[in-house]
Parts: sequence; C-alpha cells; structure tokens
Amino acid sequence: MLKLVSLIAALGLFISAGAASAQNAEAGAAVFKKCKACHQIGPNAENKLGPTLNDLVGRAAGSVEDFKYGDSILAAGEKGLVWSTEELANYLEDPTKYMRAYLDDNSARSAMSFKLKKEQDRLDVVAYLTTAVTAEAADTTAPETPAETRTIDEIIADQVFTAEFLEDPANFAAGKDVWFAQCTHCHGYKAYPGKAPKLKPAKYKPEFVFKRVYKGFKKMPAWNEVYTIDEVRQVVAYIKGQGFAP
Ligand code: HEC
Ligand code: HEC
Repeated sequence: MLKLVSLIAALGLFISAGAASAQNAEAGAAVFKKCKACHQIGPNAENKLGPTLNDLVGRAAGSVEDFKYGDSILAAGEKGLVWSTEELANYLEDPTKYMRAYLDDNSARSAMSFKLKKEQDRLDVVAYLTTAVTAEAADTTAPETPAETRTIDEIIADQVFTAEFLEDPANFAAGKDVWFAQCTHCHGYKAYPGKAPKLKPAKYKPEFVFKRVYKGFKKMPAWNEVYTIDEVRQVVAYIKGQGFAP
C-alpha cells in the first residue's frame, strides 16, 4: 500500500513537472520565431545564417558539419564546451559576452549578433529546443501559411503599395515593433558600421524594401518564414514612413 501511495505521489510529481516544461516549450515555440530567420530545426533543417539546432543539448559547441563558425565558438568547442540547458540560457543572453567569459579572452566574439534579453524567453526557448519537438513536429522549413500557393517571387510581384496603406499610422506602428524586435541588431545606429549598410529609405521604392525583407539578399536574412506578408508590408510602411530613423 505504501508503495502504491509513493508511486502515485511520484507519478503526480512527474506529471506536473512534465506539464510545466510542456508549457515552457509551448511558449518557447513563439520565442523561436525570433531565431527562425537564421536557424532551422526539424528533419529537413538546413544551415542558414546560423547552424541547424537539432539535438542541441549534449552537442559540442560549434560542431555542425559544413557550417562556417567563427573562431571563438570553435575554440570553445575545443576547450570542451558542450551545450547544456544552463549554458544555452547563458549563451543566448549575450553570445559575445559568453564567449569572452568562457575563453577568458576579451578579444573573443560571437558571430551571432542576436541577444535574447528576457530570462523567461531564454528558459522557454531552451525548453522548446530540448523537447522532442526538434525531431518531429516542428519542421520549420514548412511555410507558415500552407494555403499559400504562390512562389516567393510571385508574392513579391503581387505587392502594390498605395499612399493610403503607407500613411496608415497602424501600419507604421506595427512595422516599428518588428523593426525593434528583429532588425536593430544589424541595422540601427548602434549596429553601424559593420553588420549592415545604413538604410537610405528615401532612395527605395516600397516594392524594393518588401522584396529585400521578404526574400533576403546575401547577408540580409529572408523573413518570409518568420513574418506574414502583412507583417512585412507593415515593416515597409515603417521604413518608408515619416519618423523612421535608420
Ligand atoms: C541574426 C541571425 C541569428 C539569430 C536571429 C539567432 N542566431 Fe543563433 N547563431 C547565429 C550565428 C551566425 C551563429 C554561429 C555563431 C558563431 O559562429 O560564433 C549562431 C549560433 C547559435 C548557437 C550555437 C550553435 C552551435 O552549433 O554551437 C545556438 C545554440 C544558437 N545560435 C541559438 C539561437 C537561438 C535559440 C536564437 C533565437 C532566440 C538564435 N540563435 C538567434 C545567428 C543567429
Ligand atoms: C543579420 C543581420 C541583419 C538583420 C537581422 C537584418 N538585416 Fe537587413 N540587411 C543586412 C545586410 C548585410 C544587408 C545588405 C545586403 C547586401 O546588399 O549585400 C541588408 C539589407 C537590407 C535592405 C536593403 C538595403 C539596400 O540599400 O539595399 C533592407 C531594406 C533591409 N536590410 C531591411 C531589414 C529589415 C526590415 C530587417 C528586420 C526585419 C532586417 N533588414 C534585418 C543585414 C541584416
């Protein structure tokens, strides 16, 4: 009887722990949106601007084949860095700072310019990357709107920007949120010069901005798997809007 009681108690604990991490993982799926411009997971994942992140926990740092890492993460891998949930959460807060501390070398730097500032976001995204989701359900290579049958180039060709759309303050505001969430670590006065050329909005047609953001170009990531067409259109309204400061 005692055995049964403790078994039930243990089971209860197990279930609640499972539920908590499932919850984190679910929240983490939303956080992972911020990573998708550069990283893929799932069975068809490919290296993009960043390496694939399958089976991350337990993996040696800098060990994805065919990905061209920076020197610091390779040095960290050689020194024995293996990704655990704690190390990942620390790394994501500030990859360059992390590499400097790990290698005890102030000239170390990370090729990942993105920082995830909120602790809860870091815990959630690590939970997401740790769960089995990585291997199966979360094939991030699948487009977000399966109903879409046009190709990327067809979608780009279909865009028309009216003055009414561009001048709508709601579009400007929504685009501004995207800009500060995902663009300022390469663009934006703090990042210049280096990560990206300074934008010259007066020179661009809105259709050109849409194309560059939606499809990417060289080291500019493509955002079509991260943002909906409408969201990218809103970023265009922001960049072309009065009060955008590149
Ligand atoms: C702007 C592009 C970009 C974004 C956004 C980005 N990363 Fe990265 N990430 C990189 C690059 C580039 C590297 C390779 C770092 C190096 O070589 O120093 C990297 C490396 C990593 C590594 C080390 C992998 C390994 O093989 O050792 C992890 C873990 C990682 N990123 C997780 C994330 C997560 C989680 C997010 C979202 C919260 C994210 N990254 C967002 C570009 C990005
Ligand atoms: C990983 C760094 C990085 C991030 C993040 C990034 N960009 Fe870029 N972006 C670039 C680089 C590099 C170029 C220049 C590409 C080239 O022409 O070689 C560029 C070019 C552009 C251009 C075209 C500029 C021109 O004069 O040709 C636009 C518009 C643009 N980015 C908008 C955005 C927006 C909007 C976001 C956020 C959704 C964003 N970028 C996020 C690196 C980045």
